[in-house]
Parts: sequence; structure tokens; C-alpha cells
Amino acid sequence: MTAPGSRPGDNSWVQGAVEHALAPSYQAHTATLRGVVRQRLVTRALLAHLPTPPGRILDVGGGEGTQAAALARLGYEVTICDPDPAMLRQADERLSAGDAAVRDRITLVCGDGHDAASLVGGGWDGVLCHGVLMYLTDPAALLRVLAEVTGAGGVISVVGKNGTALALRAGLQGRWHDTLSLLDEEPHAAGTATEIGNLGVRSRGDDPRQIQDLLAAAGTEPLAWYGIRMFTAHLGDTPPGPDLDTVVEAEWRAGERDPYRGVARLFHLIHQRRP
Ligand SMILES: C[S@@+](CC[C@H](N)C(=O)[O-])C[C@H]1O[C@@H](n2cnc3c(N)ncnc32)[C@H](O)[C@@H]1O
Repeated sequence: MTAPGSRPGDNSWVQGAVEHALAPSYQAHTATLRGVVRQRLVTRALLAHLPTPPGRILDVGGGEGTQAAALARLGYEVTICDPDPAMLRQADERLSAGDAAVRDRITLVCGDGHDAASLVGGGWDGVLCHGVLMYLTDPAALLRVLAEVTGAGGVISVVGKNGTALALRAGLQGRWHDTLSLLDEEPHAAGTATEIGNLGVRSRGDDPRQIQDLLAAAGTEPLAWYGIRMFTAHLGDTPPGPDLDTVVEAEWRAGERDPYRGVARLFHLIHQRRP
């Protein structure tokens, strides 16, 4: 792991919150049905678009390394660039307890994604940024960096919170006051509304169409838009059960199509860097 890079600035309030609150709760979240469904859907979508392994993948905000491990197991060389040393420690511990060949294919770099060009260089075959935008005050600058460090023809994968359907989960959970205030906010919500999410950290939703536009303006073409979690987002800490494969299949099929993907909890955008 490299020495921590630091970049105070616009989103320093977020980094403070992420460092102190996210690492312990995120590990618990990753083991829930919601967490497992999310990671499996993301891997499945990536494999439909990434070049076949081996290839060099940069995971900006890769956290405790679930996606990096899934890709490294398939033969990709993955570098995680994340500003939170606690997340990277978790990644290191988990990966070091597993298959040594997989661990050897993963590099951990401590630093802010905005500084990725100077920290890890460019020309990547795939650049991932999953579950990060919601913690930034303005996603545009990071999206430009993602495009900048992706090689010509390379794939960019962005997962974010769907700011156009924030009320759905609160309603399904029977949190009616929250539902009403989110419905009031929704017409103006994408890009501005914040809520305290399940991880106990304030986060923001984005309109996937606006993120697509920002990525296009940064020099990329859209390849796909998937929805993540229509049927399981409200299930709290429910663990995965014996029907996990069937649940994932149902979420996958719904996430590929309208109207489901439009009301999914998360959006998953795949773009390609223009040559
Ligand atoms: C919710 S976790 C997501 C982890 C992983 N990408 C996933 O999808 O499971 C958010 C991660 O974003 C990282 N993060 C927050 N701000 C960042 C920034 N400016 N650049 C890169 N990573 C950032 C946090 O440290 C944390 O590891």
C-alpha cells in the first residue's frame, strides 16, 4: 500500500465522514442480501463489457476490495485508489487471508480519486467508480478524471444512488414521513437531496441521465445503463438465503429494462472512452 495521499478541498467534509463512519458499517453491509446482490450484479454487468482478462483495471473508491477480488479471481490486474486508510486496511486483511495469486494481482493505493492521474497514471483498460459519487458535493470533476485516465476504447463503470426514486425504499419500509418528504423533494432532488443512508453517513442521489451527460461531455460514449436493486433494496440487514441465485437473476432481468431500472435504488452506467 502506498503512503496516504490527501486532498482536502471541496469534499473534505465527506472524506472525514467516510473515514470515521463508513469502514466498519460497510463491511457488515457487504454481507447482507442487498450487499451481495449489488456486487454480483455489478460483476455480471462488467463481464459483459470489459475486454477479456488479463487487463489493467483501476477501481476508484474500491473500498474493502469486493469487486477488485472478483475481477482479480478472473485474471485481471486491479489497482484500488481510495482515500480511506481504514477501508484499505480491511481490503488488505481480507485479501491477504485469501488466495495469494489473487492478492498478488491487486495493488492498494491510498489517495483521492481526483488525483488518480498523478497517483496511478492513465491508459487503463477499465476504470470503476462504484458507490462514490453520492459522497461528493459535485461529481463532475471526478467523472472527468475517470475519463482522463481511461485508455482509448477503455470501459468506464459508474455506480451511483438513483436520485430520481429516493422515496421508493422508504415507502416499502413503511417509513411514511420520510416517504412524504422525499416525494416532496424528488422533483428537485437529483444532485441535491441528501439523506442519511443505511450506513449512517449522509449521501446524495443523482439523476442517471445527468451523469450520462457529464460522462459524454468528458469524452465517452454510453454502452449500457442497468438498475441495481428493485426488489431487495428495502430488506435492511436480511442475510442471503438459499434462493440467492434466483433473487440475483430476478434483479438482473428487471435491471436491464424499463420501467424497473428507472426506479432502482442504484444506477450502473457503462461508458466507453472515445478513441
Ligand atoms: C460505499 S464505499 C464503496 C466501495 C466499493 N466501491 C463498492 O462499491 O463496494 C465508498 C468508497 O468511496 C471512497 N471515497 C470517498 N471519497 C472518495 C474520493 N474522493 N476518491 C476516491 N474514493 C473515495 C470511500 O473511502 C469508500 O471506500
